[in-house]
Amino acid sequence: MADLTSNFLGIRSPNPFWLASAPPTDKEYNVRRAFEAGWGGVVWKTLGSEGPPVVNVSGPRYGAIWGADRRLLGLNNIELITDRPLQTNLDEIRRVKKDYPDRAMIISLMVPCDEESWKDILHRIEDTGADGVELNFGCPHGMAERGMGSAVGQVPEYIQMVTEWVKMYSKLPCIVKLTPNITDIRRPAEAAKRGGADAVSLINTINSITSVNIDSFSPEPMIDGKGTHGGYCGPAVKPIALNMVAEIARSPETRGLPISGIGGVTTWRDAVEFMALGASNVQVCTAAMTYGFKIVQEMISGLSQYMDEKGFASVDEIIGRAVPNVTDWQYLNLNYVTKAHIDQDACIKCGRCYAACEDTSHQAIDMGPGRVFTVKDDECVACNLCVNVCPVENCITMVEMPKGATDPRTGRVVADYANWTSHPNNPMSKAAE
Ligand SMILES: Cc1cc2nc3c(=O)[nH]c(=O)nc-3n(C[C@H](O)[C@H](O)[C@H](O)COP(=O)(O)O)c2cc1C
Ligand code: SF4
Ligand code: SF4
Repeated sequence: MADLTSNFLGIRSPNPFWLASAPPTDKEYNVRRAFEAGWGGVVWKTLGSEGPPVVNVSGPRYGAIWGADRRLLGLNNIELITDRPLQTNLDEIRRVKKDYPDRAMIISLMVPCDEESWKDILHRIEDTGADGVELNFGCPHGMAERGMGSAVGQVPEYIQMVTEWVKMYSKLPCIVKLTPNITDIRRPAEAAKRGGADAVSLINTINSITSVNIDSFSPEPMIDGKGTHGGYCGPAVKPIALNMVAEIARSPETRGLPISGIGGVTTWRDAVEFMALGASNVQVCTAAMTYGFKIVQEMISGLSQYMDEKGFASVDEIIGRAVPNVTDWQYLNLNYVTKAHIDQDACIKCGRCYAACEDTSHQAIDMGPGRVFTVKDDECVACNLCVNVCPVENCITMVEMPKGATDPRTGRVVADYANWTSHPNNPMSKAAE
């Protein structure tokens, strides 16, 4: 059976599935039950400085969007960092780590952006037995207004400065958690690396308003008639997170910087995708909040079976495997030609593909007598829209044309790899000179 053991920055855990810093990791009761369920590690709910505890709203703190089957697709929250006393958290962390020495225990931190505050909190956590710290530069609401969270994470110079303090005052591995609420994720990652970070984790939540009540005209979640932007997470954010992970993994400046992948991980397959794009492990929040801690058992068995099928002996064989296949648009093969093909046996004759292609794509689907839908190869540009709107999985597939065949749409013979950089229509290409 495949070995799922994960070694992230020298922190070993029985599997690469960690719970992200959030309500699931808020207290001893939760974390013990999470470890019993099988989670490989946790990042404890973010701790702040000693002082009066943080105050959360007492009305709804979550908003959501759902698919047609009411499955939760995106979750939005206006929760702050832990609202429990610092010492209570520290005592609990110490006890839990002692009882589960084989699990990863990371402490998430967010304190004011001054050297003394960071020195002090790092001193306070020293004897908890924790395996590492994660710097929460991500929370988009509540804390940013106080000069913390994403207020720091949006300024690379601050990220570097705080990371340097952390490396100066602590020997623990330091993971910098990045906010996606910026234009180019590589800049904060580079700053973290310059500051001496051992790894980055991403993404934290995305600024969002999930909905507006059109009777009361208040954004949801509504607190006494008012709403505010919250942090968006769950399956809907996965594509954004995957891209950001890949950007860091393939950038010459940050290549090789260990990554903990976060954002919408719900199944073992999601985890494999994050790891293939360069993450060494994954962190999960919304899936645990939606389905409970035991969801990790499906992740473990699914990953194990996948690795056995692929003949992967360790998770290291997955990490970064897809990174060489992520490229810029101008390097894509413009001589790769496909055509949509409809499986008549699978087709339920709903006509969605026809409507989509006829109205908004290339009028490449014919509706024949008896609602028989067929693709006109001489019109099909292979956009993939019909595949994406068809309600029957694998009913429409894209079929590659072999080299040497003639594309009936363009009349051109399918040739070897060639990209935009050398295309005759490119004014900058050598061929155009
Ligand atoms: C209710 C809630 C509270 C959160 N609190 C924190 C926090 O205290 N510290 C932190 O770093 N991230 C926090 N997060 C963000 C998660 O750790 C994670 O980055 C994000 O939810 C994306 O992962 P997911 O799609 O698996 O939920 C919170 C998320 C939620 C939903
Ligand atoms: S791939 Fe695009 S152009 Fe071709 S049939 Fe489908 S929708 Fe039409
Ligand atoms: S969308 Fe799919 S199922 Fe519906 S008509 Fe087209 S091919 Fe058939």
